[in-house]
Amino acid sequence: MNILLLGSGGREHAFAWKMAQSVHCDQLFIAPGNAGTSAFGTNVDMSVTDFPAIRQFCVEQQIGLLVVGPEEPLVKGIVDYFNANPVGDMPVIGPARYGAQLEGSKAFAKAFMERHGIPTAAYREFDGNNFEEGIAYIRQHALPIVLKADGLAAGKGVLILNNREEALLEFEQMIMQGKFGDASKKVVIEEFLDGIEMSVFVLTDGKNYVLLPSAKDYKRIGEGDTGLNTGGMGAVSPVPFADTLFMDKVIDRIVRPTVAGLQQEQIDYKGFVFVGLIKVNGEPMVIEYNCRMGDPETEVVFPRLKNDLVELLLAAGRQRLDAVTVVFDERVACTVMAVSGGYPGDYQKGKPIYGLDLPVPAESLVFHAGTIYRNGMTVTNGGRVLCVTSYADTIRDAVLKSTAVLEKIQFEGKYFRKDIGYEFK
Ligand code: AMP
Ligand code: GLY
Repeated sequence: MNILLLGSGGREHAFAWKMAQSVHCDQLFIAPGNAGTSAFGTNVDMSVTDFPAIRQFCVEQQIGLLVVGPEEPLVKGIVDYFNANPVGDMPVIGPARYGAQLEGSKAFAKAFMERHGIPTAAYREFDGNNFEEGIAYIRQHALPIVLKADGLAAGKGVLILNNREEALLEFEQMIMQGKFGDASKKVVIEEFLDGIEMSVFVLTDGKNYVLLPSAKDYKRIGEGDTGLNTGGMGAVSPVPFADTLFMDKVIDRIVRPTVAGLQQEQIDYKGFVFVGLIKVNGEPMVIEYNCRMGDPETEVVFPRLKNDLVELLLAAGRQRLDAVTVVFDERVACTVMAVSGGYPGDYQKGKPIYGLDLPVPAESLVFHAGTIYRNGMTVTNGGRVLCVTSYADTIRDAVLKSTAVLEKIQFEGKYFRKDIGYEFK
């Protein structure tokens, strides 16, 4: 069948790489894609939120499966649009708008967890109507205190504050001055959880689910987890501390109740649930939900997935995940992201990338993120430029293999962390 994938990051390169291996994949299209995805299909110059154009393309190219990579089209209702304007029996992988609020609204996600007894930090939500109560709440709250813009804020909407005056000021700026635009008209205030984070990936059809390999990403720009937050500088899978005992708790207390909650509330959800969680005194607590795969986690999760991904996605679309068993590669996979100089602050684009034609060892994979093919050259086109995933028996060896490949790929301003997985080495 013909498949259309929406998105342009390293995540989408990993999706394209994996789906192109499927016996079910005839023609693969990626909109808009990047310089890497074009090795596995045809890039299409189309916005991921132009639903009528996407639908017309699906009709013209006889697309049999539509896979949505990023959250924005989901939160904006792409699934609802195709429910109202179907293209034959083509499934769209992702939740409808209501369910996408698990990511699109922190208050929605917290209330969902509360309804289903899913462990998470204690919280309250505030907006312009109960602003003064919010001020009083902050005055008596323990420090550090966590303020979260309710809506999507490009990964910037969470503030962890150690100073009460600063927390009061930020709260006022978020609600009254639209610090994060409409996203911060409502604010969730929650208790700070101290522990180690990891990500769990679930594919659900709204009734059944399969658990994909788990992963840990490294969000900070600097080695030793210092400096500003980024979209993710690397990832490892599996997560060493997520042993069977811990994962059993995650499944019992978080994954099962989440899927049961979706079903019980009749939420139209055929797609990925990405659970960001934190291990606090040995117990898992949910930090956030996302309604899509993670980036760069996908770049280590899919390489460890032995199943045919298209088959898994079709099973999700047709509510047949009960008939699927997921098989993992036992090896470790690590990915290391190379970014543009200055990222996550200002950075330049359009820098030529050299060395992409050099042979890559059999146990390494190069996934493009912010790259574009222009005038016969691949050039940088974003903050996160490309990542290298490697398999090995240990995290240390996998990271060494990835960094060795990254040393040979050159672009002006290139930077990457050499210490991905450092706490497990
Ligand atoms: P979120 O967008 O909700 O994932 O938050 C971004 C990051 O903020 C998370 O990955 C955590 O590192 C941190 N964070 C969010 N909520 C909490 C919390 N309640 N306690 C401690 N850290 C948190
Ligand atoms: N790497 C974190 C995310 O995709 O949200």
